[in-house]
Amino acid sequence: MEFIMVMLFTLATIFFLKKWFCFGSKKLGLPPGTLGWPYIGETFQLYSQDPNVFFASKVKKYGSIFKTHILGCPCVMISSPEAAKVVLVTKAHLFKPTFPASKERMLGKQAIFFHQGDYHFKLRKLVLRAFMPDALKNAVQDIDSIAKHTVQSWEGRLINTFQEMKTYTFNVALLSILGKDEVIYREDLKRCYYTLEKGYNSMPVNIPGTLFHKAMKARKELAQILGEILSIRRSTMKNNDSPNDLVGSFMGDNEGLTDEQIADNIIGVIFAARDTTASVLTWVLKYLAENPSVLEAVTEEQEAILKGKEGQVLCWEHTKKMPLTSRVIQETLRVASILSFTFREAVEDVEFEGYLIPKGWKVLPLFRNIHHSPENFPDPEKFDPSRFEEAPKPNTFMPFGSGIHACPGNELAKLEILILVHHLTTKYRWSMVGPQNGIQYGPFALPQNGLPIRLSLKETPSTLIQ
Ligand code: HEM
Repeated sequence: MEFIMVMLFTLATIFFLKKWFCFGSKKLGLPPGTLGWPYIGETFQLYSQDPNVFFASKVKKYGSIFKTHILGCPCVMISSPEAAKVVLVTKAHLFKPTFPASKERMLGKQAIFFHQGDYHFKLRKLVLRAFMPDALKNAVQDIDSIAKHTVQSWEGRLINTFQEMKTYTFNVALLSILGKDEVIYREDLKRCYYTLEKGYNSMPVNIPGTLFHKAMKARKELAQILGEILSIRRSTMKNNDSPNDLVGSFMGDNEGLTDEQIADNIIGVIFAARDTTASVLTWVLKYLAENPSVLEAVTEEQEAILKGKEGQVLCWEHTKKMPLTSRVIQETLRVASILSFTFREAVEDVEFEGYLIPKGWKVLPLFRNIHHSPENFPDPEKFDPSRFEEAPKPNTFMPFGSGIHACPGNELAKLEILILVHHLTTKYRWSMVGPQNGIQYGPFALPQNGLPIRLSLKETPSTLIQ
């Protein structure tokens, strides 16, 4: 009898607590803000002006967390470092990455970005293995050669910086994915990838003649070429081959990935690696041209490396002796904030800083706002690499994201930028051509028209000619 009484009391308590908590969560309000017009929401306000203006006016009116409605989805935008950490790191399991279905079809459903849990963990381990410093050390000489030839091909020409940087970062991405085999497949892969990317921002209408249709066809061809590469690798691979490129890492240790999974992830990595790094490089050139004293100091640092290597090729250790150039890259990543924000989706109703974020709502950590807040970076619009002589406050600097989806390619990105800057500053001078103040967002922030520049060979002292 006593036992039954205890059971009844326990059940009643559970029932009461459940009710109470449900009631409590129902009482939570949505974050402040407006949802705009039905369906279109505030998409037009965001995309018809500089996004900074949209974000800044919202933050001023509603504070660091506010709701809006963009591209057909209700969203919560967050702009405090602490809240971004909760979404990306401490409660990452409640906020899954999210992309439009057409992008998933184009990149491949099995690519790392779209997953959480065990499959994501496994892919991440394999991707990191190919892009950790230990693996990259061996690639410095080849990246150096690609950088040298790239810059040489610009001599005396008027170039579109972004377009040229895209070629450079594409070639480096292929090298890190396929190793030296990349040269054999470069042109075919490039042709297919360039058709694929043209469809990336098109209407997802898969009928003959549309950009989307052409892109899907090119994607199929890409997967076929990659399939051939995998089968040749498989037939020549020995048991004790150690993987030193991404394909090797995916195929090694009986990882059990299918060809389709590998192809989706190779296409995904090219997508993640190319335009991001090319945009940052374009901004580096712009900021250096606009800040002659910084350019002079970087040139001195790079000339010292050139003298020190005495005719030898550039190696990993040289790239570790470029602290000022590294700070220029950090400051460029901060000021340009090429990824203004990222997308997550609440997997259940979440209580967040006293508000309710309903299941299915998008959550956008606003990197750009965090990087441009005077509380985190005094005089935030000023390009001042010396601010990175001290480490930034925790969670205030995340150009490569944070948490389980943070960028696994960040070391490669920094390395290829350092190497290109080495060749540029030691041998060339460049001047910007045309208007220099505009920014385009497509989707990465980029100087207007891709920054047209004219490049010429410097009169180099004989001690520096190599
Ligand atoms: C300066 C250049 C780059 C920037 C600014 C950048 C930025 C980022 C950011 C912010 C994320 C996280 C996105 C999120 O949490 O939603 C990310 C993810 C990723 N990046 Fe990068 N990235 C760059 C270059 C690269 C390169 C060179 C590679 C490949 C070698 C790469 C591969 C990836 C991959 C595979 C992911 C997805 C990781 C995952 O979902 O676990 N990125 N990147």
